[in-house]
Amino acid sequence: MESTSVQFPIRLAEELILLMLDEQSGYLEMVPGWDFSCVMAGAVLADLALEDRIDTDLKALYLVDSGPTGDNLLDPTLKEIAESGETRDTQYWIERNTGRSDEIVTATLDRLVERKILDYESGGFWGLSRSVSRSGAYPASDMKVRQEARTRILNVILNDDSIPDPSDAILIALMHTCGGFKLLLEPEDYEDRLERIELVAKLDLIGRTVATAVRDSTVTPRTRPVLRTKSIPKLRFIDILRQRDFLSGNIPKAMYGIFRNHGPIVELPFKMRKSRVVALMGPEINQWVNKHGRFYLRSKDYIKDLESAFGASRTLPGMDGAEHYRMRKELKGAYSRSALANRLPELIHHCRKSLSRWSEGDAFPATSEFQNHISSQISHLVIGVDCAHYVDELLEYEHRALVTQVQGALPKFMLRTPKMKRYGKRVWELHESIVRSHTPGQRKGKPQDIADAILGLHKSDPQFLPETDLTFPFVAAMVASIYLGSGLAFTVYSMIRDPDLHEKIRKEAEALFGNGREPGPEDFTHDAIDATARLYMESLRVHPVIPWQLRMVMNECIVNGYQIPVKTMLLICQTAPHYSKELFKDPLEFDIDRYLPERSEHTTPGAYAPYGLGTHMCLGSRWVELQMAVNVLLIAYHLKLEVAPADYKLGINPFPTSAPNKKLKFRVAQVTNPI
Ligand code: HEM
Repeated sequence: MESTSVQFPIRLAEELILLMLDEQSGYLEMVPGWDFSCVMAGAVLADLALEDRIDTDLKALYLVDSGPTGDNLLDPTLKEIAESGETRDTQYWIERNTGRSDEIVTATLDRLVERKILDYESGGFWGLSRSVSRSGAYPASDMKVRQEARTRILNVILNDDSIPDPSDAILIALMHTCGGFKLLLEPEDYEDRLERIELVAKLDLIGRTVATAVRDSTVTPRTRPVLRTKSIPKLRFIDILRQRDFLSGNIPKAMYGIFRNHGPIVELPFKMRKSRVVALMGPEINQWVNKHGRFYLRSKDYIKDLESAFGASRTLPGMDGAEHYRMRKELKGAYSRSALANRLPELIHHCRKSLSRWSEGDAFPATSEFQNHISSQISHLVIGVDCAHYVDELLEYEHRALVTQVQGALPKFMLRTPKMKRYGKRVWELHESIVRSHTPGQRKGKPQDIADAILGLHKSDPQFLPETDLTFPFVAAMVASIYLGSGLAFTVYSMIRDPDLHEKIRKEAEALFGNGREPGPEDFTHDAIDATARLYMESLRVHPVIPWQLRMVMNECIVNGYQIPVKTMLLICQTAPHYSKELFKDPLEFDIDRYLPERSEHTTPGAYAPYGLGTHMCLGSRWVELQMAVNVLLIAYHLKLEVAPADYKLGINPFPTSAPNKKLKFRVAQVTNPI
């Protein structure tokens, strides 16, 4: 649906959504699925009736005036009714219009953002506008809408003498149909006022018709087959084997090949944890996941056994809905770019200390050494303890937990072998040492790190974040350092393979660090690190370290015309579009100029997604950008590296996440600026 305009009166769909916003958390309590779709579809029909375009009685829905209203929330439905040329009942049109309910929800949310009532936050969340929530007031007249709607509706419900106007009666009927009053009222008040709610819901004929039709549809959908859906094509093993890029470990490229040959949605020829597995890929899918994923998809199912391997009941990547929104909000500051920027001297110090291990002539395995190099920085900056001497054991335990608990590639008892039991103890050792080193006395005068933020949240609300759930995020930080280490290895490889590019980066490094300069955060401007930023962006396009993600379908959904039933496991390959020639010019070329303002190929919606999609999009992405830039620049400044052996052809190890294979080595050809 086209972008919306605020010139129209506030529509019923907008008021409905606003009434469902949880005031405390700012989270939108929407229950997706058939019932909610019917209510949203009904709201549009009711608004068309209020605009005198249609009329309804208990038998049928009649077209009164086919002239467009100019409002893109209403006109597509009006057009369809006008073009159908037949008279059907309201239930038929509500059910028919449910096919548009995702669009209606998106257009409504967009419009509320335009009206500055809601804020859109990365990760597909909408919350009460910061300007609204900060001041506690509604500065612009439009912002009164939410308060007014609530006051008006409550006044009608709580006051037996008040006479609602038609649109309020419809709103009450719709709210009642989708259980909205259970959110708005305390349980006793709800019971007490139920009779009044039902009376008002029946007052207006349109409201009554729409509400009855919605209710009938939710009980016995009649015209559901009207929403014609396609059956999902099934892939054979041979179709997968034909994608030679799987053999070379290039998952996004291989999945793009599948997309080209078989379309955006395919069922894979194997099950995962007894569920069918459906792969989704393509730019439209990415947009769908960004906009609608949170209503239909859940992470908990695939991750819960992994959580339990760490003694946790809930974790950030495994949470969904309002509590996930709250957790992200609480921790956002600690994972931000500015949190790292405030500690730039420490970052530079730890990076240099680690680089100083290498002397001229040394050759070292690129991936494992860069992973350790980043781990040492993350352990100091994120969790404030040095776990370098057992980080390998921690990561091996986490890897085994992933393979046994999530992928199911090894039986679960393989996590209980004597070696794994020993490594598992390291997890508790890490937990203990973080807690010991984060007492108020130990932390006095030290900048807040991510462990402080996590422990602080536990202290302020131990029920929301209990002690059992602290270990996982600590280990997760070390795991994230592996992603960044792999990403750095890919980036440095691409840099030193291209002498011109290498020279550009070296010049940026010289300008920042030359002549003994110690740059501060204010020096890392867009212009100062322009080529470096474009280098790692391109590296994450060609070699994304997390090419896909798993989700479980929790509410049946229709995506690109395909109906996907509940409990289907989805493998969303969000990085497949990275290899599309429609989106990226010569996608096989490593070309950092595609990010120049005049090309900006990555900004096409759904095209570029190295940090994931939707609600679980990487919380540390802006932190990563700064840490990556500082590392690439310091490497370019201090060392002249070369690939060893010189004829090495990049091989990728795709599991558990993508990294250059073990054969890649870097050799220090020269220490250009000794540390
Ligand atoms: C090149 C490095 C990195 C890449 C490519 C990357 C990418 C991703 C992706 C794709 C996800 C989503 C996974 C999913 O939806 O299942 C994710 C989640 C996350 N990442 Fe990163 N990541 C990187 C490094 C980091 C680092 C260094 C940190 C911490 C400092 C971090 C913090 C997080 C957090 C907290 C989440 C969970 C967000 C949530 O579930 O709401 N990441 N990352």
